[in-house]
Amino acid sequence: MLARANRRSISHESVLAEVKSLFQSPTWRPPTFPAAAMELLSLTEREDMEIGQAADALGRDPVLAAQVVKRARSAAYAGRQVVSTLKEAVVRLGVSGTRNVALESAMTMSCFTGSQNAALRESLRRHSVAVAHLARGTAVVAGASPEQSFLCGLLHDLGSVATLLALEELSTSWEIQVDAAEMWLHLDLLHPEQSAAIARMWGMPDTVIDVLGHHHDLSLKGAPRTVASTVVLAESFADELGHSFRVSGQQIAVESADEELLSDARTALMLEEDPRPVVFKQVKTPLGAALGADEEARPAL
Ligand SMILES: [Fe+2]
Ligand SMILES: [Fe+2]
Repeated sequence: MLARANRRSISHESVLAEVKSLFQSPTWRPPTFPAAAMELLSLTEREDMEIGQAADALGRDPVLAAQVVKRARSAAYAGRQVVSTLKEAVVRLGVSGTRNVALESAMTMSCFTGSQNAALRESLRRHSVAVAHLARGTAVVAGASPEQSFLCGLLHDLGSVATLLALEELSTSWEIQVDAAEMWLHLDLLHPEQSAAIARMWGMPDTVIDVLGHHHDLSLKGAPRTVASTVVLAESFADELGHSFRVSGQQIAVESADEELLSDARTALMLEEDPRPVVFKQVKTPLGAALGADEEARPAL
């Protein structure tokens, strides 16, 4: 039974059933994704994209634009000339770097910020950002698609955000405090399908949707299997670097891959050598900048 603010008792099974039915309900409102970030995402898929177009798209969302300028001015990217315009920031970070900073900021705005369960959201944010960078680095080493791996790494646990929102909605409608940490292990199995459902609603490409839906089982073929394999390995690297998704009160990593899954991922990527030394070196600067100055000092990276 759940810990409660009043005397009503609710079983784990009831909460699971309610969360499932909420996900199926026509009134269910999952998070939305900033339009400027989606526009930038599709723009950067085009080979003829110009820097000015990326800056224009970003300029339509002042919060995203401010984050990109801030990152370009950070110690990790500092250059001789101080960045003073959005276009200069895009040039400093590069198209891929700009796109990824904008996607990280968009996810933070739409999914990882909220008045309730702030610690869980922050743990999910750090985990998602770390998996994004580590999946990208793994894709570079394996000769896969770095940008798709980054996007899938960033979005892979989107369904966990949906679970949090559902628990918060139930707390309100039942007028009791549903303890997310206590419930988590009973609900975790729902998240891959929800990650895929939300990505579909956002208009993400089919490969991304497939990868999100199967990032814990790898039951995919072709390109999606390759991208999902980078996410599986990145998840274990994130764990090693202290960026697993942890639920407060339960000092355990919620997601952990078994050796068979990790081995399947290495085989799919045809990795004969341990990619970690190269991957960790490669992500040090961008991941440090993304997670904040405290992370730049981490000895493990
Ligand atoms: Fe997951
Ligand atoms: Fe994860």
